[in-house]
Amino acid sequence: MKHLFGIAELSAERIRHLLSISASMQGINRRSIKKAPALRGKTVINLFFENSTRTRTSFEIAGKRLSADVINISASTSATKKGESLLDTGQTLAAMQPHALVIRHSLAGCCHFLADFLPHTSIINAGDGAHEHPTQVLTDLLTIEQALGTTITGKVMTMVGDIAHSRVARSHLLAAQKLGYHIRLVAPKTLLPVQVERFGCSVSHDFDEAIEGSDIVYMLRVQNERLASACCFPSVREYHETYGLHRQRLARAGDHCLVMHPGPMNRGVEIATDVADSLQSRVLEQVENGVAVRMAVLTECIMHRDAAAAEAAENEDEDDED
Ligand code: CP
Repeated sequence: MKHLFGIAELSAERIRHLLSISASMQGINRRSIKKAPALRGKTVINLFFENSTRTRTSFEIAGKRLSADVINISASTSATKKGESLLDTGQTLAAMQPHALVIRHSLAGCCHFLADFLPHTSIINAGDGAHEHPTQVLTDLLTIEQALGTTITGKVMTMVGDIAHSRVARSHLLAAQKLGYHIRLVAPKTLLPVQVERFGCSVSHDFDEAIEGSDIVYMLRVQNERLASACCFPSVREYHETYGLHRQRLARAGDHCLVMHPGPMNRGVEIATDVADSLQSRVLEQVENGVAVRMAVLTECIMHRDAAAAEAAENEDEDDED
C-alpha cells in the first residue's frame, strides 16, 4: 500500500489489516511517553487546502508520535494564494524529498491526479471534495468494532443528513459493501445523490421509522459551505425536527445503539446537545482513534514505499552485474 486514495482501492483483508495495526498503535497513545521510533528519519508533509481540526491535527500527532518530521502547510499561507497550481505545489514539495504527502482539497480525485506526477512520494487522502475520506471511515470502523466487541458485519448503520456532499458517506457506502454491514440512508431528496441505491443501501425519508433496529446511528453535518443554494430544506428548525437526532428519537433505537458523528457538529441542527454528550455518543472516541488509524496508515504507506525503493535498487544492481 504505497498510497491511500480511498476505501475503493482497499480489499476487505487490507481494511482488516489496517484496523489491526491501528489497534496496536492505541497502546502508544495511552502510555505516558507517547513516542516510538518507527518513522524516524521520515518526512511527512500535511498539505491542507480546506479547513480541518481533527484530521490535520491527528495526522500531525500521528507522525510525531512515530518520530517522523512533520511539516504543516495550509493553503491560506502558501504560494497557492499567489496563483500556484495544485500540480506545481505538489511537484515543488515532492522535490524536497518527503516520504508522504497528506492532502485535503476540494477537488475530487486530486490524490490520484498528483500520484501520477509524484512517483516517489506516498499520497494519502485526507478528504477530497465529495469523493472519499478513507481515514475517517477506518477510524469509525475501529471505534464501532471496539464498542460493540465484535465485527461490524451484519450490523445496521442508519446514516442521516447531507449525503450528497459527504465524502464520509461515500467511503462508508464502499466499506459496507466490502465488510458486509447495511446502511440505511435518511435525508431529504435534495440532499441525496441520484441512484445512490446502486451501493446496496436502502433509502428513507422517515427517520423515526429507519432508526428502529439500528446498531449505529451516524449523523452527518449539514455542509453549509457546499450547499449550492439555500433551498435544500425549508428551515433549520424544520430540518432538526425531521432529520435531527434528539432523545425521543434515539429511544426508538434503544440503549445499545451507538451515536456517531465525524465532526464538526452543528449542535441543535443535525444533533441535539444532550445526545451529542450522552453515554451513547462515541464522538470523542472517534477523535481519539483517529490518531491510531493515521499512525497505521502513515506506517503502512511509508514502509511500503521504502520496501519498493529497496527492491528497485536491488534489481538495478543485479542488472548492472549482468
Ligand atoms: N472529520 C473531519 O474530517 O473533521 P475535520 O474537518 O476537523 O478534519
